Amino acid sequence: MPRATTVFVCSACGTESAKWHGQCPGCGAWNTLAEESRGAARGGAKQASGRAVKPVRLADVRAEKHARLSTGIGELDRILGGGLVPGSIVLIGGSPGIGKSTLTSMALGNLQGAGRRTLYVSGEESAAQIRLRAERLPGAALEVPVLAETDLDTVLGTLDAERPEVCVVDSVQTLHAAELTGAAGSVGQVREVADRITRLAKARGIAVLLVGHVTKEGALAGPRVLEHLVDCVLQFEGERERTYRTLRALKNRFGSTNDVGVFEMRQGGLVEVADASARFVGEATCAPGSAVLAAMEGSRPVLVEVQALVSQSELVPPRRVANGIDRNRLALVLAVLGRHAGVGVGSADVFVNVAGGVRVDEPGADLAIALAVAGAARGVALGGGERPLACFGEVGLTGELRSVGHADRRLAEARKFGLTEIVGPRESGARFEAPTLRAALRAALGPSDSRGARAA
Ligand code: TYD
Ligand code: MG
Repeated sequence: MPRATTVFVCSACGTESAKWHGQCPGCGAWNTLAEESRGAARGGAKQASGRAVKPVRLADVRAEKHARLSTGIGELDRILGGGLVPGSIVLIGGSPGIGKSTLTSMALGNLQGAGRRTLYVSGEESAAQIRLRAERLPGAALEVPVLAETDLDTVLGTLDAERPEVCVVDSVQTLHAAELTGAAGSVGQVREVADRITRLAKARGIAVLLVGHVTKEGALAGPRVLEHLVDCVLQFEGERERTYRTLRALKNRFGSTNDVGVFEMRQGGLVEVADASARFVGEATCAPGSAVLAAMEGSRPVLVEVQALVSQSELVPPRRVANGIDRNRLALVLAVLGRHAGVGVGSADVFVNVAGGVRVDEPGADLAIALAVAGAARGVALGGGERPLACFGEVGLTGELRSVGHADRRLAEARKFGLTEIVGPRESGARFEAPTLRAALRAALGPSDSRGARAA
């Protein structure tokens, strides 16, 4: 006989437990377990009792080409794989203030302007607040019908009656399913909300842009199961105070996850930055501690400036601050610099920052981090300091410089912006091909003892 059960679910990692714990047995977070009731548990192992269905050979399956809906935002369309697929569910995650509501409002405005039926559902803001935002935005943003509502049943009822082609739900954490206990935003609620919206949207062919918050640690708030439910997960990154934001696909059933879009937040909403490299190179300082990284953002090359500062520390242990790069990557590069390249930062504070608020998550960034830190530690500008010096390459644990993907595209991008002084790994085609980190330092900074000799 099926019976209702109670489980405890961690809001951080989604781990389920039959008992309550102060600390989650899955991820170790404290006070994250919340009670959730399961309507009816499935009975134990049963004999197969369902109807048998004949499987179909893949070659005989009808696969329709999806007609795409253009959002009118080139970078967004590109990341989606050529526009929104009707009936698809796209989750857009990002921290508060990053511009999720702005981006989705702009997309709906453009779609509405192109004659599509749209609906903006908001559980976060009042209709008046949404209007104030729309007034700043271009296109037909003010023509979009809006529903300020937090009750899931009302939202689903309205969706069913209005039958929009594209709908925004801002955000999945603010809607509330009446039949479930637990506050809006709890694991069970988020899962239920996403699940029921997904089912209705699939049945009615409504494309849904589902907005979701991201926790401080960077994970999409709510359980990871959300990512399995939806067709596409987009992550909006960058820092609120900075102007540049990047949008990348973490999952995409209808396209690649290789592409990244760059946006700038302006008075009139988000503006696509097609020439990101030109901006970043133009702003690069050429001072000691600056290096231009020829990075790959998915399949697209982009030049970004990596900056480092090394300064005397009063703290034990000293500070290691990384903005826009992974902290562990910085620790690794510092260790190799000290052990294999003769640049020890010892007890000094080290700050590394990717200018413009961009985040680079690729091993090819190692060399730029190393050169920026070494330049900062020695007070020497890379390549003489007249023009920015570009670089790329992965730093190995034994001090070698390893090759990374798409060397040709990185080089082409650097040359396109007039950077010919490029340091890269062996056989990369760069002007200075360095087999080791030490060799790369010599190429970029000159002989390591020159400053020491001068100081002596
Ligand atoms: P918002 O889209 O509300 O962020 P989210 O939904 O991710 O929380 O907007 C974020 C910030 O952008 C907000 O602080 C105001 C600013 N902004 C602009 O600078 N220009 C604009 O045209 C708009 C609409 C917002
Ligand atoms: Mg918002």
